[in-house]
Amino acid sequence: MEKIIFSLTSSKKLAEQIAKASKIELGKSEVVKFSDGEIMARCLSDVQGKECYIIQSTIAPSSDTIFEILIFVDSLKNAGAKDIVLIAPYYGYSRQDRVARPGEPITAKLVAKMLENVGISRVISVDLHTQQIQGFFSIPMKNLETSVLFGRYFAKRFDELKIAHENVVVVSPDHGSANRGRDVSSELNGASLAVIDKRRPAPNKSEVVNVVGDVKGKTCLVVDDICDTCGTINNAVEALFEKGAKDVYVAVTHAVISKNSIDSRVKEFVTTDTVEKEYKGAKVLSVAELIAQNL
Ligand code: R5P
Repeated sequence: MEKIIFSLTSSKKLAEQIAKASKIELGKSEVVKFSDGEIMARCLSDVQGKECYIIQSTIAPSSDTIFEILIFVDSLKNAGAKDIVLIAPYYGYSRQDRVARPGEPITAKLVAKMLENVGISRVISVDLHTQQIQGFFSIPMKNLETSVLFGRYFAKRFDELKIAHENVVVVSPDHGSANRGRDVSSELNGASLAVIDKRRPAPNKSEVVNVVGDVKGKTCLVVDDICDTCGTINNAVEALFEKGAKDVYVAVTHAVISKNSIDSRVKEFVTTDTVEKEYKGAKVLSVAELIAQNL
């Protein structure tokens, strides 16, 4: 089946790179916002009988970026698309994935149902907040992981800096990211692991209870999926220096960074292009190849 890629407003550069890496045509689309805030998204290329890929991170303004997808799917269906695949490199609303307090919604599931009901047949994402989110979809949902990308980058970087991998500790800033930390560390030769016991007393607030693992005199690499208010990362950095860490590096897949900034003591902040936001001083690794190989 003939294939075509479209970008909407949030992942334009990444879509171009995916199209280049996969050698799939990049189609033309148009997104217009009316003065009352309503959105119109339409395809301007021929999609009759084609498999259409939409590349769009559902990043803030999340309600708009999600709605753009729903409207664009309608446009594609009206224009005769055969099959519609969504690539949401950053899957927004993913952190509300369970009822933690009575009456809370499960937005990760709600968004999954909306995408499915509009007629998307397959979804691809990168480093979902939790693997279980895949279970909220009854259509195929592939979660691509960046641990090899980050692990290989840091293996090379530490070699260049003459930092022995045995002196590196890969740190998970909370229990939820423990597997991610282990996967990144497996690309390093002999690095150890530490986990931070984090508590969230209220939304957008986090506290470090304890650092589990020995970090004294070590080079720490903190690995997380999302950095939003920077609270989780910066509290981890603070706790690691308090426990005698020599220096701290940070790797975060989705640099949402809605407020604040990364602690200036961090030696290097490495992220990916799932979120197309310029962050001064950040090293950006592209997920374009990873996605192109999995279309
Ligand atoms: C939480 O479970 C996530 O993995 C991140 O640690 C969290 O979303 C980061 O948010 P913030 O930067 O606001 O602390």
